[in-house]
Amino acid sequence: MGKVTINELWKKKAEGRKITMLTAYDYPFAKIVDEAGVDIILVGDSLAMVVQGLNNTLPVTMDEMIYHTKMVSRAAERAMVVGDMPFMSYQSSVEEAVRNGGRFLKEAGAEAVKMEGGREVVEKVEAMVKADIPVMAHIGLTPQAIHRMGGFKVQGRTEEAQKRLIEDAKMLQDAGAFSIVLEAIPMSLAKRITEELSIPTIGIGAGPHCDGQVLVIHDLLGLFERFIPKFVKRYANLKEEALGAIKSFIKEVEKGEFPKEEHSFL
Ligand code: KIV
Repeated sequence: MGKVTINELWKKKAEGRKITMLTAYDYPFAKIVDEAGVDIILVGDSLAMVVQGLNNTLPVTMDEMIYHTKMVSRAAERAMVVGDMPFMSYQSSVEEAVRNGGRFLKEAGAEAVKMEGGREVVEKVEAMVKADIPVMAHIGLTPQAIHRMGGFKVQGRTEEAQKRLIEDAKMLQDAGAFSIVLEAIPMSLAKRITEELSIPTIGIGAGPHCDGQVLVIHDLLGLFERFIPKFVKRYANLKEEALGAIKSFIKEVEKGEFPKEEHSFL
């Protein structure tokens, strides 16, 4: 079984087959996601919020992203691994963008990187693609711009903002991005972008017409409860399961029921 490639993702779009992407940040979760058959594992900078317990994605560092991407790459036998470029790893210059993007492939075993932003990152996308670093773009709600956007807010509500997002998507495609994440935008806008682009769109809070869908694994499994965005669907409640198991352990140890002879060496 080979790795999912960019060509396969493009073929899926051409044939109208949906692409699946989930986040993972360590070996055991990446193993499960890969075994389940997801096409792409994103080592998202959402790591800052769901793993590191921070309020937003801004503080996570390049070295931390590399550390986590290495663990995920070791687990992913089929899924394409995409490393998320953290805040300030690409904003300051084209050289920084290429150098840090390259680290994900060279040091961490990723097959591609993801980068937030519209026309303002086009020059960087072009340079990275020229350096053979495949780039997944990300527009709409871009969490690294939380302070400019005034919070985690739906984007593309006005006609002007919609026009700008459509232009941004086309510019990123022309710059060589192989796919694009559309986050928290009206579904009609996501449909239009999906129809007008030849590269696949992957939606999160962008409705059902995108070529693929992505969720943060902790949201899907019920492991993150600080806030639950409207676009999240919980497919399990692992926190409850884990709580139950841990409480059983405590009870059994306290009552002297664990360990038994079968767990002990004679
Ligand atoms: O960091 C992340 O997990 C993301 C996805 C939500 C697309 O950017």
